[in-house]
Amino acid sequence: MSSTAQPSGRPRIFSGIQPTGSTHLGNYLGALKNWEALQDDHDAVYCIVDLHALTLPKEPGEVTRGTLDIAKMLLAVGIDPERSTLFVQSHVREHAELGWLMQTVTSFGELSRMTQFKDKSERSSKFVSSALFSYPALQAADILLYDTNVVPVGDDQRQHLELSRDAAIRFNSRYGDTFVVPEHRIPAAGARVMDLQHPENKMSKSIDSPQGTIGMLDEPKAIEKKFKRAVTDNDGEVRYDREAKPGVSNLLDILAGCTGEEPAELAKNYSQYGPLKADTAAAVLSVIEPIQQRLAEIDDADAAEILHRGADKAREVAVPVMERARNAIGLLP
Ligand code: TRP
Repeated sequence: MSSTAQPSGRPRIFSGIQPTGSTHLGNYLGALKNWEALQDDHDAVYCIVDLHALTLPKEPGEVTRGTLDIAKMLLAVGIDPERSTLFVQSHVREHAELGWLMQTVTSFGELSRMTQFKDKSERSSKFVSSALFSYPALQAADILLYDTNVVPVGDDQRQHLELSRDAAIRFNSRYGDTFVVPEHRIPAAGARVMDLQHPENKMSKSIDSPQGTIGMLDEPKAIEKKFKRAVTDNDGEVRYDREAKPGVSNLLDILAGCTGEEPAELAKNYSQYGPLKADTAAAVLSVIEPIQQRLAEIDDADAAEILHRGADKAREVAVPVMERARNAIGLLP
């Protein structure tokens, strides 16, 4: 699409997070901290993607709880509903509608190549839904509904972003210029936080490793204990080398993520693992404790109210874009 300027004059970013599992330090340092920072010079749209969460089976009510929990966490980390648009995907019906249209410009072959689908469908002993397969088409709809310029997500979303771009380009060439083709930006600052017990794996919501995962709601004592027991190695040397020293490097990355310093520089301050672990735990607590305090002040009703207002704001953009898509195709008005 030729014109990508937003009314605000600032580039629009869109990102989504699933309302499943409890938020951990990896989510915060890898994504949410950056979401907070990006609000300053972007027109930010942040979406709790509850429809995406349904790609794996859920109990009745589970999604409501998850949605409120993640909303409160986003508010506590500093997402500002006045400056940004914070809303729930299913509240803006256009996501589902455009999601269908995106399936019509996405091929079976493209979807079959998505590594996330292959991983998730192989790992799941449960029902593998066709929605898990077509998920990237809905993700494309999320992004395209807001004339998004930039999508700040990690490298694991690269394939989905490419598919969103291809779907937009295909739609535009089939039906005429309709969608802004979004750019992918891998946040430079986003630390990749690894599991404290298995530093070769990413800290993850879906892999069960309570001792290796720092939950954003963990008690301070529990956090200290987990850092004390974090896996390092036997050579006793503090140096930043992700390949050779994954455990120690992860601690340095976490410390760097919390302090804004460089991991390789921080390494120079230490000659033993004990003090590095203690300082990392302290730095993490200084980040997590204020978030926990803010979280305690937000109740469910306030969060729900904020989300409803966010959906109203989101619809102001999404409804006309959806209309553009319907008109471009020529669905009977
Ligand atoms: N697929 C993303 C994830 O699993 C979540 C997501 C859904 C998303 N829609 C999006 C991210 C649109 C960026 C833009 O993390």
